[in-house]
Amino acid sequence: MTKRVGFATRIGAIAAAVGSAVGLGNIWRFPYEAGNNGGGAFILVYICCIIVMGIPVILSEFIIGRSTHSNMKAALLKLSPGKKYYLFTYICIIGSFVVMGFYSVVCGWIIEYLYQAALGHLSNHTPEEYSNMFTSLVSNPWRCVGWTVLFLILNFLVMSRGIEKGIERVASIMMPLLFLILIIFCVNSLLLPGASKGLKFLFYPDFSELTMRGVLDAFGQAFLSLSIGISCLVTYSSYFKDDTSLTKDATTVAVLDTLVAILSGVMIFPAVFSFGLEPTAGPRLIFEVLPTIFQQMPGGYIWALLFFLLVFFASLTSTISLSEIPITFLIEEHKMSRPHAIAWAALFTFVLALFAALSFNVLDDIKLFGKNIFDMMDYAASNIFMLLGGLFTAVYVGWVLDRKVVHEQMTNGGRLKGRMEPFLIFCLRFAAPISIIFIFLYLTGII
Ligand code: PHE
Repeated sequence: MTKRVGFATRIGAIAAAVGSAVGLGNIWRFPYEAGNNGGGAFILVYICCIIVMGIPVILSEFIIGRSTHSNMKAALLKLSPGKKYYLFTYICIIGSFVVMGFYSVVCGWIIEYLYQAALGHLSNHTPEEYSNMFTSLVSNPWRCVGWTVLFLILNFLVMSRGIEKGIERVASIMMPLLFLILIIFCVNSLLLPGASKGLKFLFYPDFSELTMRGVLDAFGQAFLSLSIGISCLVTYSSYFKDDTSLTKDATTVAVLDTLVAILSGVMIFPAVFSFGLEPTAGPRLIFEVLPTIFQQMPGGYIWALLFFLLVFFASLTSTISLSEIPITFLIEEHKMSRPHAIAWAALFTFVLALFAALSFNVLDDIKLFGKNIFDMMDYAASNIFMLLGGLFTAVYVGWVLDRKVVHEQMTNGGRLKGRMEPFLIFCLRFAAPISIIFIFLYLTGII
């Protein structure tokens, strides 16, 4: 039997969950998704989704994890003995690999930018030159693959040394620092000439700009950003103590995560409009905008270095939680040793990441629905795997799971009031499944 240890403090447990949630999803993906889908209206849908689906699904994962103190498969077998619900675990594992596949490529880009920042190359250029800089990075297979591999080595080294806890401790200093730096960048962006246009774009909900595809993107973005739908938080909460308030923890994770995403938007869009850049630049958006922000700030060299370093750590705490999904599964369900499990997980991740890294250069003519391999992974991960995973989790806890388990976990065995419970049940039974099913039916043309 593998030994399971608990988080020493409530803060430790929350820091780990926030560490998983806050990452490239907030800083890199949220601004470009908002930019592609018209800004304000997207953000409104996003926030509604966090309240009606995000927090309830986080709570559901917490309930499954803490009531069983097990990984997803063992948990589903304990909660529903003799039933086939545990098969969902395999979808979670495939989903976690798909996220890792494209995510680690972006982590590689972050390391390249950290390197460029250290060399002092992120200053004295025009926006167009920054755009070319990004293009030359992604079109070079060696650089793209090289940085991705370096990131993967670091990620799995941390995991094989068992120093995730150390990283989490480092992150609990880095995260508040990242938060602080984002606020400083926001103030700086708000002082730029023409900043108000960016703010209007970000917060004025112009629904004529929002399509049903945009709504699906907002749902997928919320799930990816909160790390829900692929059992990541089940694994983490299986280590939670019995006296922490799940409602409080789930809300804290969601609020902090959303705040970081919105701050990233406030940092990026005033600058986009002030420098006359394109809000719809897609995945390259922050890599084109950030250098222009750094170079007009006093001490830009240091800011750039610090920023990419903090984003690097935020990404690492996310990928650690992602890789932990298959690793815990292999150790606990297939009785593998930890090094063995890590080696398998690393191998699979490497193969997927290789395809993603090559999809901007060597494999760029492989396209499906106009998307290259990287885009397909990104789309499939959030808009299909995590969303369907969220649907399963909501329906399972809302309809299938014994209400006594839910009540017990929400009230810590009667010690808390559990006032959120009726709202939770309503969202899990109706609001979340109906919205997710509706959007899928609409987009597949069935309704
Ligand atoms: N939530 C992370 C981010 O926003 C990504 C992630 C997804 C991490 C799923 C773990 C599990 O960057």
